[in-house]
Amino acid sequence: MAIAWSQRYAARTRRIQSSVIRELLKFTTRPDVISFAGGLPAAELFPVQAFQRAASRVLQQSGPSALQYSITEGYLPLREWLCARYAQKGVSLSPDNILITTGSAQALYLCGKVFVNPGDAVLVESPTFLGALQAWNSFQARYLDVPIDDQGLQTAQVESALLGAPRFAYVLPTYQNPAGTTMPLARRQRLLEITARFQVPILEDDPYGELYYDQPPPPSLLSLDLQRLPHADIEQGSVIHTSTFSKILAPGLRLAWVIAPSEVIRHFVRAKQGIDLHTSSFVQQVVYEVIKDGFLREHLPRLRRAYRQRRDAMLAALTACMPPQVSWTQPQGGMFLWLRLPPTIDATDLLERAQQRNVAFVPGSAFYSRPTPEATHTLRLNFSNVDEAAIHTGIARLAEAINSYAPATLPA
Ligand SMILES: Cc1ncc(COP(=O)(O)O)c(C=O)c1O
Repeated sequence: MAIAWSQRYAARTRRIQSSVIRELLKFTTRPDVISFAGGLPAAELFPVQAFQRAASRVLQQSGPSALQYSITEGYLPLREWLCARYAQKGVSLSPDNILITTGSAQALYLCGKVFVNPGDAVLVESPTFLGALQAWNSFQARYLDVPIDDQGLQTAQVESALLGAPRFAYVLPTYQNPAGTTMPLARRQRLLEITARFQVPILEDDPYGELYYDQPPPPSLLSLDLQRLPHADIEQGSVIHTSTFSKILAPGLRLAWVIAPSEVIRHFVRAKQGIDLHTSSFVQQVVYEVIKDGFLREHLPRLRRAYRQRRDAMLAALTACMPPQVSWTQPQGGMFLWLRLPPTIDATDLLERAQQRNVAFVPGSAFYSRPTPEATHTLRLNFSNVDEAAIHTGIARLAEAINSYAPATLPA
């Protein structure tokens, strides 16, 4: 008799659902579809030749060590490189404050594993990064939602959420996914003041900070936190910070890092040992070989130029095509913008009409920990993975789908 698998799954497994985005991606692989749905970087900008040369050098110079098991903390020269990079931004770290992870996704998962008991609360932005909710659902987290506006997290509402005693506050201050918003300096400082008063740590997720298209973003929460401390001593800090090579080199590397006081890193290290022992030694060494002599000094401006053009193309197409009842955020970096529909149009229903016109997006409801009225009438658009001509065509199709609702649905 076949095993009744459904009786075997742990209670937490039932909370893990396939992501809406994964389902949508199947539709978006069709060649005639213009997809604003994924969060993919532009593959034509991946530095393939630099990787080819670096991989061959690593294999020649240190093949056996690059292919051997290694320490959980990560390749020391890569952690030292990160220390030097953060030092340029006024953040003083030692390699003991850094753990190399298999994507930032793993850093988020580790935070769940190390900090969250079943039923514990986590403060999240509303909307927030879907992957974080997925990671923490598996630890049976509860969520204390704080809304965002065009300037990111609404700090005026943080205090009442902190009364719910979250284990940590998960914040995406820079070019937020999904909304593309950025917290100005004053809000960042205010957030740090409030969370310090409540003694709640912040988990700062910063995959997009290097992808700015107008001017560099305000300092990270990590950096501002250290500025407030005697001797800027990270060991006294209250911010855990994660970032990734996914958006500045390539996501298939699955290479990222998390920064924290060394005592927290030690717990992450033990937790990671039970997951994958360490992140690929080979990938770490190859990436280090690519970046060690200043490669990013030329590569990052290339990415910023290309993505800025796409961001501008999308903003121009929206202005040209959308009816006046639709509004959107003005991202200064990153890969996404957030569209607000009239309250009479449900984004999931609109997605069907959009798919009939071969264009895709992610309905806003995917990014909320629970259903809210606002969630229904919002959607996320990605501009990094579509060229400018397709952006114009795709936005025109989306506007056509919106205009296909009866005029009564679109009040003047
Ligand atoms: C806000 C945010 N955090 C984390 C990640 C995960 O990135 P990684 O590829 O490093 O796992 C992403 C990727 O889309 C993201 O948008």
